Amino acid sequence: VAGQLSVRPIERRDASALADLTGAERDAWADALELPSGGAVHRLGAFVGAELRAAVELRPVLAARRRHAATLSALGGDQVALTQLVAEATTLADRWLGLARLEALVGADQPAALEALTAGGFVLEGWRIGWLARTDRTRFVDGAALARLRPGWTPPPAPPAPEADAPRVISAQITLRRSTPADADAVAAIMRDPRVLRGTLQLPSTSGDHWRGRVGAATSWLVEASTPDGPVVVGHGGLHVYAAPSAHVGEFGMAIAGAWQGAGIGRRLLAQLIDEARAQGLARLALEVYVDNPRAVRLYQGAGFALEGTRRAQAMCDGGYVDTHVMAMGL
Ligand SMILES: CC(C)(COP(=O)(O)OP(=O)(O)OC[C@H]1O[C@@H](n2cnc3c(N)ncnc32)[C@H](O)[C@@H]1OP(=O)(O)O)[C@@H](O)C(=O)NCCC(=O)NCCS
Repeated sequence: VAGQLSVRPIERRDASALADLTGAERDAWADALELPSGGAVHRLGAFVGAELRAAVELRPVLAARRRHAATLSALGGDQVALTQLVAEATTLADRWLGLARLEALVGADQPAALEALTAGGFVLEGWRIGWLARTDRTRFVDGAALARLRPGWTPPPAPPAPEADAPRVISAQITLRRSTPADADAVAAIMRDPRVLRGTLQLPSTSGDHWRGRVGAATSWLVEASTPDGPVVVGHGGLHVYAAPSAHVGEFGMAIAGAWQGAGIGRRLLAQLIDEARAQGLARLALEVYVDNPRAVRLYQGAGFALEGTRRAQAMCDGGYVDTHVMAMGL
């Protein structure tokens, strides 16, 4: 079969063939193929004659500190065709796009994709438990989290993270409330705090405007401390729900201002975010944390999150790359 396979870019006219291949709606594919992606999303198909046997989609990650990375999705169950497509996609990523890290999430029920990616140099970084919903959320399968670093690429190491202060006691009264757009500047200031920035995916250039829309979301929480000068915003946490087939999974991020860390505030905010995830009817809650952030790892372990895997050279931190732990819990 391999000899008859020809690989070419997916065109708009391939929407029906993609729908047949993936079991998704034709219109959904037609829309996806119409969307101007600015050349950012790359799709290749392997054909035998006019028949589409498999396809791959290479999608660069948009997060500013993860611009070296892209996700690779394998579509279809023809292992020979997928193997050839993965080889083409990794060449594209390595030699033309200059990407350094490719990642793929493959269901435990997709052995052909797992084999093809492994043959293409991807290695297992962990299992995302119950990550993928099948048949209208009645069945859940684990996702194999695979990644491939560009051969020969040695990620420059990041300087050590600042040491966390020892735990301490504070007397200020702490209040949690939902945030509003009026809190955006205060949240942006916390996110730019050098003792916060390193542990997140934020930038020193992040503006209040960037946060304005996000902090108005129902799942965004704020921590206030009462001080002699009035209430001060000292922390922020936000919950994000994934798209199908992982719409039963939430992920969160949180930060406490440097001057207020180590006083038990993070633990209270985390409890609130877990309550929020339960109230939303989510089945699982996940997070990602840099391996050199022991205070955060300890906080999450104490709350019942389990380690699901470690992603290599996941994000740029202060001039180098740092691995992250992926952690999750059932709700
Ligand atoms: C990580 C962070 C949210 C934790 O919040 P916090 O208010 O500082 O932490 P808490 O005081 O609630 O302590 C949390 C846990 O860490 C422990 N801890 C506190 N200081 C510590 C230290 N220096 N070393 C190790 N553990 C420490 C606490 O004892 C507590 O564990 P316990 O519940 O088992 O007692 C906060 O420090 C922060 O925002 N850091 C910068 C941004 C960041 O890293 N965000 C997380 C991204 S995943």
